[in-house]
Amino acid sequence: MARRIAVVGSNMTDLVTSIIRMPAPGETLEAPAFAMGFGGKGANQAVAAARLGAEVMMVTKVGDDVFGQSTIDNLRNNGIDISHVGMVAGQSSGVAPIFVDETGENSILIIKGANNDLKPADIDAAAEDLKQCDLILMQLEVPLETVYYTAVFAEKHGIETILNPAPAAPGLDAAKVAKVTFVVPNESELALLTGMPTDTDEQIEQAAHALITRGIRTVIVTLGSRGARLITADKSTMIEPVKVKPKDTTGAGDAFIGSFARFYVETRELEASLQKAALYAADSITRPGTQKSYATTAEFEAFVAATRA
Ligand code: RIB
Ligand code: NA
Repeated sequence: MARRIAVVGSNMTDLVTSIIRMPAPGETLEAPAFAMGFGGKGANQAVAAARLGAEVMMVTKVGDDVFGQSTIDNLRNNGIDISHVGMVAGQSSGVAPIFVDETGENSILIIKGANNDLKPADIDAAAEDLKQCDLILMQLEVPLETVYYTAVFAEKHGIETILNPAPAAPGLDAAKVAKVTFVVPNESELALLTGMPTDTDEQIEQAAHALITRGIRTVIVTLGSRGARLITADKSTMIEPVKVKPKDTTGAGDAFIGSFARFYVETRELEASLQKAALYAADSITRPGTQKSYATTAEFEAFVAATRA
């Protein structure tokens, strides 16, 4: 049976505007294009894993607006177990106005809406199903108390966890997530998490070791176009980037984490899974959009073959 992955996290509807540049305050500017898509860090990671064939369950909350029902439909259409997706009456769904410039760089606003209503009681309600999972993924677009609660729950039941401390949350208490199996921050999230500088490779390693000293076994620092670095107590390994022409980098980090989760639960091979995840993320940035740019297994295999050719 396929390994089970749970995502305890967010969903958003991405409102993606292509721009030449951001308007200045008071200025009106025409932008070339607009597209809507399904997003949110939690749902993105869930969809990446599911498209690659993992059995995925999502614990999340939507609002009772037009975005809520379509988000539920989208999760179901991706084969994700939605038995623990709740709809909050009188609340808006999470939305993310995103601005993508011609170089593929993005600026994102998030309005969490119903994601703020995901509470520890929802973890209790999903407990029996969560216990059947091999890996639980978390991000920071839901209340921190829920993240802490899930981390404690997973540790108690011997379930491995990935924490992607994104978006950077100044209020995150690193001591309360010290028992997660993997922490996957980018450089600035790592700096915030440790209170240490992360401008050089050496500083990144020192900051990662500060987390390892606190009990985290494995730190995976994502470095954007420079790849990623895997740091454990006794080893530091560079995961080389895969060079592609970027079209839209939105959600590339989520593609990396969701696909890593999928590859890792199947094989338990850390480095090889990360290298494959780097390929999966690279493929996603060659297409516009967030989830809509995530490959299925067949599409991914074609990309890998083309890259090696
Ligand atoms: O990580 C990318 C995601 O961040 C987007 O899909 C957007 O919804 C925001 O949550
Ligand atoms: Na993309």
